[in-house]
Amino acid sequence: MKMWSGRFQKPLDPKFDNWQRSFEFDGRLLGEELAASRAHSRALKTAGILTSDELISIFEGLDQIAKGAASPVRAPEDSETEDIHHFVEKQLVARVGDTGYKLHSGRSRNEQIATDLRLYVRSAIDRLRIDLMKCSEALLDRADAARSAAMPAYTHLQRAEPVLVAHWLLAYVEMFRRDLERLADCRKRVNICPLGSGAVAGATLPLDRTAMAAELSFSNPSANSIDATSDRDFVLEFVNTLSLLAIHLSRWAEEMVLFASEEFGFVRLPDAYATGSSAMPQKKNPDLLELARAKAGRITGDAVSLLATLKALPLAYNKDLQETQPPLFDATETVHSMLPLLTAFVNEVEFNYDCMQQAAQSGFMNAWAAATYLVRRGVPFRLAHELIGKAVQLCMVRGCELKDLPLRELQGLNPAFDEDFYSGLSLESVLAIHDVPGGTAPARVRQAIGEARQKIEAMREECHAHA
Ligand code: ARG
Repeated sequence: MKMWSGRFQKPLDPKFDNWQRSFEFDGRLLGEELAASRAHSRALKTAGILTSDELISIFEGLDQIAKGAASPVRAPEDSETEDIHHFVEKQLVARVGDTGYKLHSGRSRNEQIATDLRLYVRSAIDRLRIDLMKCSEALLDRADAARSAAMPAYTHLQRAEPVLVAHWLLAYVEMFRRDLERLADCRKRVNICPLGSGAVAGATLPLDRTAMAAELSFSNPSANSIDATSDRDFVLEFVNTLSLLAIHLSRWAEEMVLFASEEFGFVRLPDAYATGSSAMPQKKNPDLLELARAKAGRITGDAVSLLATLKALPLAYNKDLQETQPPLFDATETVHSMLPLLTAFVNEVEFNYDCMQQAAQSGFMNAWAAATYLVRRGVPFRLAHELIGKAVQLCMVRGCELKDLPLRELQGLNPAFDEDFYSGLSLESVLAIHDVPGGTAPARVRQAIGEARQKIEAMREECHAHA
């Protein structure tokens, strides 16, 4: 039976009826719907609406539904099922008879869907945080293993200064650490219980909202029933966080695609995460990375779709809100399927340290260090910059590096040059002068790896506290 046919004289246009259903996608929320229904039925018992026997039989019915259904739930044959709430009600009545209809006393689907979505987002956050920690740890392991290997760092995609490979990897760890923090922060606002908000004005029965919130491990009941039934900020906030994470992943993917090219030659793609060409027998393509790069477009699209749906929506519940579900599910499932693959890639990708090191030693990436040498000897920086620029020009004409210019010639440019200028030009010296917290000097990088590990570890403990 429909949930609301009493006041209608004629049936719905079957095409419209079918079109307005959400069961095809909200079937995913079965676990959440059952948990929220258990909490509600317990509150109904406390409020004197259900007897102990009725509560037991409802609990049994809900358990049977949980056991019987595949997840995500498929649309049943009768195709009458409107949404996950209707599905559970029908299944319950089929199992325990008319007592099942009592479950909906004093509640509305508006608060139910808000609750289900909060439970869904909360567990998605917990899962994704674990996945993201694993990815960060894989990067940290690679950073450890890279030891003193160096590579060029780029600005404007032009060689800028040499850095440790570990330092470059740590840049991604920082991005992911911020994503982890954002997810944790978002969780605080997700973790609020709408149950007892009714359709818009609050429940029509004296339900113990604190008990329902506690049963579902929410931190508090929501403060305003109008807001609670119409709020999807948490969905948007979560998907926004996912889009930023996806953008970080796309930056990694893009660098890997570039670095795997013949032109860079910094990395070799693992066979397990590359594909061939059906036409060109020699090819090995970075499809995993290309798809990961593109998923960022898809996920930001989900975020934009949510923004547009929520814009100018009058209070409180509107059916428009049903349309917030597909982008939420899409963004969540897209990130969830992609992250472990990228982590595996991080573990397996082969760095060509020789090639990276080679690249780090040519192209005048010691020029700033050379200018700093002059600064230490009292030359004003702007002048030193100009002088080294001139020296670089000379080298370019001769096809050599700064270290190859004779001292006499340098002294012709400025008498501040001396014999010890040359030792400061080596890769080791250039790396070592970046000796500030957050800089690429090897000791600083080692310290940074340790600190990043500690921070991730602290986050892991916080996650376990939730589980
Ligand atoms: N399927 C609906 C949704 O996802 C559930 C809430 C329906 N509420 C209503 N008043 N029609 O939004």
